[in-house]
Amino acid sequence: MKILISGITGQDGYHLSKMLLDEGHSVHGIVRRNSQKTYGALEYDRELINKLEFYYGDVTDKSSLDLIFKTVKPDMVFHLAAQSFVQESWSNPEVTYDVNIKGTLNMLNSFREYTPEARFYNACSSEVYGKVSDDIQNEESRMWPRSPYGISKLAAMWTCINYRESYNLFVSNGILFNHESPFRGVEFVTRKISLAAARIKLGLQDELKLGNMDAMRDWGYAGDYVRAMYMMLQANEPDDFVVATGESHSVQDFVEAAFGYLDLDYKQYVSTDPKYLRPAEVQYLRGDASKAKEKLGWKPSITFKGLVELMVKTDLERLSD
Ligand code: NAP
Ligand code: GDD
Repeated sequence: MKILISGITGQDGYHLSKMLLDEGHSVHGIVRRNSQKTYGALEYDRELINKLEFYYGDVTDKSSLDLIFKTVKPDMVFHLAAQSFVQESWSNPEVTYDVNIKGTLNMLNSFREYTPEARFYNACSSEVYGKVSDDIQNEESRMWPRSPYGISKLAAMWTCINYRESYNLFVSNGILFNHESPFRGVEFVTRKISLAAARIKLGLQDELKLGNMDAMRDWGYAGDYVRAMYMMLQANEPDDFVVATGESHSVQDFVEAAFGYLDLDYKQYVSTDPKYLRPAEVQYLRGDASKAKEKLGWKPSITFKGLVELMVKTDLERLSD
């Protein structure tokens, strides 16, 4: 099959394109032109880059998407492109809305015009739950986003549902809880911690400043989560699914596990800095993926401790090379 991925240069783009190539598909990705000609997370794997087809485009530019859809004629579309950093969404709310809402609308319109028989995955987020009202969140839980990013993901998700219902398209939303890996962007808290712990161990850094260490997240492994995306597009019917581990840990837990793995006492290095606090915080997330388990047969494969160790170990190895 021919697969089109927006956001292929991100963490999930890396894991998804690798998995789809292994499944024997031909994988085509939309990339934004940048002055350094870098391929983001894909840069870790030059061999992978050579197996992919790239097209310059931007989800805010519908004419670029039209051309790509006409050229590729994909059987499956994974729409991952986003301004995905929650903190940034307060300083750049217009960009966040343009890319995440209008960008999704543009992708849907090109999809509907050129490949209406194909299947479309939209990357929604647990940030839509925001101020949670339940101890564990499923597809029916109240949605009360707490950031421009969360609002944009809620609007994009409902746009997808509306297109599915209005035009009888195969469009599915994955409401994915946080998922991490050694290919995670360095501004996100897990990778910021794993990289800092490795650098401190090697004497390259002597402190780590963080924001709210009491925030709790349901952290899973990105490799497992892209498998869930693929399963959603192989199902008989389009639908919306929560993908999560069902466990919640604090940022403090992550710090302790990461530094502990390297036999470091985190108290000597880690402190808080108000500049990393958010105007409104999502304090707690824990997802219930029962529907994905029952209907798709999906389940996670890596534990919280295993994830932390994988990230720290990989950062240590990369720095030691
Ligand atoms: P990421 O690493 O930040 O990647 C974002 C991707 O979007 C990059 O390839 C980026 O390209 C691309 N992009 C940004 N603006 C674009 C534009 N205007 N036109 C075209 N491409 C654009 O994010 P991720 O962690 O892989 O997440 C993938 C998707 O899942 C995102 O939609 C995110 O919001 C959502 N999500 C992520 C998580 C998570 O925990 N990782 C959880 C729930 C939902 P550049 O390389 O050019 O910047
Ligand atoms: N980034 C960051 N940096 N976060 C920090 C820091 C810090 O120094 N200190 C504490 N935190 C807290 C944040 O306040 C937040 O509560 C938590 O750590 C996680 O922050 P991020 O790793 O930036 O992720 P996120 O939960 O805001 O968003 C990620 O997950 C969403 C799914 O729930 C992103 O991947 C989103 O794109 C995704 O939709």
